Amino acid sequence: MERKLIDKILAEAPAEEPARQYFFADECRKIITEKENLKGRKLTCCINTFGCQMNAKDSEKLLGILKTIGYEESDSEQSDFVLYNTCTVRENANERVYGRLGVLKTYKKRNPDMITAVCGCMMQEKHVVETIKKSYRHVNLIFGTHNIYKLAELLFMYLAEDRNQTELLEGTDKIVENLPSERKFNYKSGVNIMFGCNNFCSYCIVPYVRGRERSRSPEEIISEVRRLSADGVTEIMLLGQNVNSYKADISFPQLLKQVSEVEGIRRVRFMTSHPKDLSDELIEVIRDNPSICRHVHLPLQSGSSRILKIMNRRYDKETYISLAEKIRREIPGVSITTDIIVGFPGETEEDFQETLDVVRKVRFDSAFTFIYSKRTGTKAAEMPDQVPKDIVDERFRRLLDLVTEISKEQTALYEGCTMEVMAEEVNSRDPSLISGRLSNNSIVHFKGSSDLIGSVINVHLDEAKGFYYYGTIAHDVSVS
Ligand code: 5AD
Ligand code: SF4
Repeated sequence: MERKLIDKILAEAPAEEPARQYFFADECRKIITEKENLKGRKLTCCINTFGCQMNAKDSEKLLGILKTIGYEESDSEQSDFVLYNTCTVRENANERVYGRLGVLKTYKKRNPDMITAVCGCMMQEKHVVETIKKSYRHVNLIFGTHNIYKLAELLFMYLAEDRNQTELLEGTDKIVENLPSERKFNYKSGVNIMFGCNNFCSYCIVPYVRGRERSRSPEEIISEVRRLSADGVTEIMLLGQNVNSYKADISFPQLLKQVSEVEGIRRVRFMTSHPKDLSDELIEVIRDNPSICRHVHLPLQSGSSRILKIMNRRYDKETYISLAEKIRREIPGVSITTDIIVGFPGETEEDFQETLDVVRKVRFDSAFTFIYSKRTGTKAAEMPDQVPKDIVDERFRRLLDLVTEISKEQTALYEGCTMEVMAEEVNSRDPSLISGRLSNNSIVHFKGSSDLIGSVINVHLDEAKGFYYYGTIAHDVSVS
């Protein structure tokens, strides 16, 4: 496109968001339509999401923007626009992205018109962006976590100037509302309540790549939930790196309660709670509102008070255990799940035994176990005594065995009971089965048809199979 024309379009663009992005989406659509006419077919896009629920939610927004521009969604990375929304919480997430980028290069050779883009947490690290610019020159757009809302503008600049674009912001206090969004599931949706993290756990890169905490206003959140409910959503997952430090004119528990009271919402979940500030008010609100799910994800990280201190977690072993006991006591039927890191610098066998001890005492219903991964820029990366790999691997194995054994026993507790299940999807291996979830987050497979999806049904839990159940619809008691 001629410079004069580009400048004219830029001068016409509204300054305020999201109007500016809708304007650029329109401009992109004109160019994409021309390309479609030349090719005689629709253009396709594919987003590959790495990492957590936050990234999954961001990808829904990114897909919303691409669809507004005129792309059709595809599962294949041999598409006209391929975007990787990256994660950097552990090194292996980075390696996977580099591996995939190598594959993309061969696809691009076959389709030179293909546009490739990378965004998300990895891009907030300077050394990553340098590597990509140097060794993966086929990447056309690079942007970070703070400016995903600007995809239309960046894509327009790329199409207009025919030049690779990079835009990275160190931080932001901005929250752009009312972007288009394409939900992956009809009946459930994540809703961001806050962005960023201020905790600086010493091993964690998240505060560096996601920036400082910013909370959305309760009004924006509730009106999004109302819109979703009107659109058929029955389950909401409130998302934040640490929902307990939600800051607005109401507390997180009050927000949770208000969300659970929105008409049409059958279930509310939330992710993630930091043990240091999980309040009694939150426990009471969960206890007293049956549509708030009986599930608390409470990352432990380590059971050793000494390691917890160096991790900057701001709780110790005893406070964690008594918090978990209180949650179990106050909320009957609740499940407690966790994240545990093995091999933090300086972790001794005694420290590790403390972790096993907490696992035995709390009896986690399930646990995500991670091998410590050194992240450049974090405090822990500078610490001496990184634990040798063979010792870490051996501890990891022992932890996994214990966690698996206990979660099997926890699952078996409800065998033979009839419980409410949210029907989620047709089972991918056996289409005669529907897979759903209990309020406590356990998975149940049962015979049923796809019209049940999105509704809550009573299911008899015939058989506990480790982490999940086989069940049968209980016809005598119907719920919805
Ligand atoms: N190494 C290993 N695991 C990590 N996590 C965060 N940072 C690291 C790291 N450097 C884990 C924590 C967190 C989960 C999302 O990822 O357990 O709760
Ligand atoms: Fe990372 Fe800790 Fe923040 Fe969680 S609370 S995102 S582990 S710094």
